[in-house]
Amino acid sequence: MSTSYKELGFVSTRKMFQKAVSAAFAVPAYNFNNMEQLQAIVTACLETQSPVILQVSKGARDYADQTLLRYMGQGAVEMMRVQAKKKGLGEIPIALHLDHGDSFELVVSCIESGFSSVMIDGSHLAYEDNVALTRKVVDTAHGHDVTVEGELGVLAGVEDEVSAEQHTYTRPEEVQDFVSKTGVDSLAISIGTSHGAFKFKKGQNPQIRLDILREIERRIPGFPIVLHGSSSVPQDIVAIINANGGKLEDSIGIPEEQLREAARSAVCKINIDSDGRLAMTAAIRKAFASKPSEFDPRKYLGPARDALKALYIHKNREVLGSADKAPLILGA
Ligand code: G3H
Ligand code: 13P
Ligand code: ZN
Repeated sequence: MSTSYKELGFVSTRKMFQKAVSAAFAVPAYNFNNMEQLQAIVTACLETQSPVILQVSKGARDYADQTLLRYMGQGAVEMMRVQAKKKGLGEIPIALHLDHGDSFELVVSCIESGFSSVMIDGSHLAYEDNVALTRKVVDTAHGHDVTVEGELGVLAGVEDEVSAEQHTYTRPEEVQDFVSKTGVDSLAISIGTSHGAFKFKKGQNPQIRLDILREIERRIPGFPIVLHGSSSVPQDIVAIINANGGKLEDSIGIPEEQLREAARSAVCKINIDSDGRLAMTAAIRKAFASKPSEFDPRKYLGPARDALKALYIHKNREVLGSADKAPLILGA
C-alpha cells in the first residue's frame, strides 16, 4: 500500500528552495540513523525555527530498517508539533529525503512509503545514462508531487559503497542541458567538497571552487543548488575524541566561512553528516572515560544527543542562515 508524504505531515522541498533562493540561506539536510540523532535534529531546528530536511541514506535503511525509519520520521513530525505547542513556538517544515538513491526501484519504494523528496545519484554514470535515469525518476516522482535532486560531477571520498580518489568538478557547460532534459528540482554539484571526516590534511588551505559555483549560477539563474560533503570537521571535537582514547587522523573539513558564502548564493541545501558523527563520538568517549563504571546507555547517549543538538543549533544560526526562516516557508 502506498502512503503519501502529505498524510504524514512532511512537505516537499519546493517551497523551501524558493525561499532559500529569495532570502539567501541554505536549508540544512542532516542524516539520521537512530532516535538520538533524530531528536537532536528536530529539537535544534524547532528551537531555532529552521526548516529541515531529514536525510535517510541507503546505509541508514539497511542499518535501522526502512519501515522503522519512516515511522520514526512520522513520529518526529508529531513530536515537533507537540513540542511547538508546549514551548509556544511556531511549527517548522520538515521534509523526508532519500540521500544518494542509486536505483529507480529504491526511489519508488521511498516515494511509496512516504518520502517527500528523493535524490537520484547518477553522477557515476556516463552523462547520457545519468540523464535517462534521472528523467525516469523525475517522471514518476512528479506524479506524486515529490521533488527530485540530481547530481552532476563526482565528489572525492566515500559514499555508500562507492569511493572516488579525485574530484571530478561539475562542468558548468553541462548544467543547463541536464536540468532541462531531466526536469530535476535541484542539482547537487561537485566543487571541492567531499564526503567523510578526512577531507584535507591539516596545514592544507581548503578552497571550494566558488568560481565554478558562480559560473553555474550564471548559466541557470535562481536554480536550487545542493552541496554534499559539507562537514567542517570541528577541531575541538576531534581533540576531545583523541584525548579520550580515539585515534582520528589529523584532518580538516570545509571552512565555515566558505559554506556561509555558498549559502548566501544559489546553494539552497547543505548536507552535513560527518560532523554529527564526530560530535556524538566525542561525547560518548568522554562519558566512558570520565565514568567507566556507567553502563546505562542513556548516560552516554543522552550527552551525545545534547552535543549533537548544540552542533545543529550552531550550524543553523552561524553557517547556513536557516534560523528563523521556518515562518517564511510555512506562511503564504
Ligand atoms: O553521503 C553519505 C552520508 O554521509 C550517508 O552516509 O551511507 O554511511 O549512511 P552512509
Ligand atoms: P559529510 O560527510 O561532509 O558530512 O557529507 C554528508 C553528505 O553529503 C550526505 O549526503
Ligand atoms: Zn552526500
